[in-house]
Amino acid sequence: MKTVFAATWWFGRACVETAYQRWQESSESDSAQRLLDAVVEGASTAERDPQVLSVGYGGLPNRDGEVELDAAVMEGARLRAGAVASVRRFMPVVYLARAVMERTPHLMLVGDGAERFALRQGYEPQQLLTAESLRRWQEWREQQTAPKEVSQERADAPRESHDTVGVLGWNDGHLVVACTTSGLAWKLPGRVGDSPIVGAGLYADNEAGAVVCTGVGEEIWRFALASRVVEAMRAGYSAQQACERSIDFMLRRLPDVAQHQCAVIALSARGEFGLAATQPERFNAFVCRDGAIEEVRAG
Ligand code: GLY
Repeated sequence: MKTVFAATWWFGRACVETAYQRWQESSESDSAQRLLDAVVEGASTAERDPQVLSVGYGGLPNRDGEVELDAAVMEGARLRAGAVASVRRFMPVVYLARAVMERTPHLMLVGDGAERFALRQGYEPQQLLTAESLRRWQEWREQQTAPKEVSQERADAPRESHDTVGVLGWNDGHLVVACTTSGLAWKLPGRVGDSPIVGAGLYADNEAGAVVCTGVGEEIWRFALASRVVEAMRAGYSAQQACERSIDFMLRRLPDVAQHQCAVIALSARGEFGLAATQPERFNAFVCRDGAIEEVRAG
C-alpha cells in the first residue's frame, strides 16, 4: 500500500475521490507537498458543495443568520499547522488555513483579522448562505419564542449541523490532516468549536499518527480528543484501538457525552485506519487505499 486517504461522513467519498485524483495528477516532486495539496483539495470539495449543510458554502449560519467558518491543516513531519476561525464571506477556508501555515509566522487567525488576511490572499467576498440554508435559519428563528439557554439550543440543533469534514492523508510514512466546518448551527456569533484547534479537532505527527474529529465541538475539545488518540497510537495501540479507547474514556469520564455525537478517524504511522464514535450507529467514513474506496461504519 502506497497512499491512503480517509474522510468523515457521506460527503467523505467525494473528498477522498478528489484527494486521490489530485494526488495522481500532481506533478509536484516533493511528496509531502503533494500529499498536502491532495488533502486540502479533498476537504475543499465539501466546502464547495451546497448540499453539505455543515461545511462551507451552504453551511447553516449562526443565530444572527451569518455563516461563520472554521478550518485547520496540520502536517506530521515538522508539526506545522495553520487555522482560521469565525471567517465570514470567504471560502474555501481550508486553503486559508493552509496559507496561515505557509505564509505567516502564526498558527491561527480569527474573525476580522482572518478576513483581512483572506482579502490580502486574493479571496473575493461572497454570500455563503444558500436559499436552503436561509430558509432553514428563518424557520428556526420563527420557532424561537423566548431567549433560550445556549445548552438548550445545542440540544435543539439539527443533527447534521456539526458534521465537520475531516480528511487524512498518508504516503510512505508521511501524514497530513485537514478539516473544515461551519460549526454548530444557530451558534452564538463568535463561537468556535474543536475543528480549528490543534490537539482538539485534529493532530498529525509522523512518529505516531494523524487524527481528525467530528461532532459536538464543546465535548470533543474538553477531552483534547485528537491529541488523546494520537498519544494512544504513540503508546503502541493500533489506530482502531486508540480511537475506541479514547471514546470509551470520554463515555466513562462523562457519561452524558453519549447524548452527543463525537466521532474520530485515525491513520497510524503505518497507514492503518481506525474510527470510533459515541453514537456509532450513525457515523461513517470513507477510506481510499491506492484508489480503492471503501465505506467504513463505526456501528
Ligand atoms: N466539530 C465542529 C464543531 O463543533 O464546530
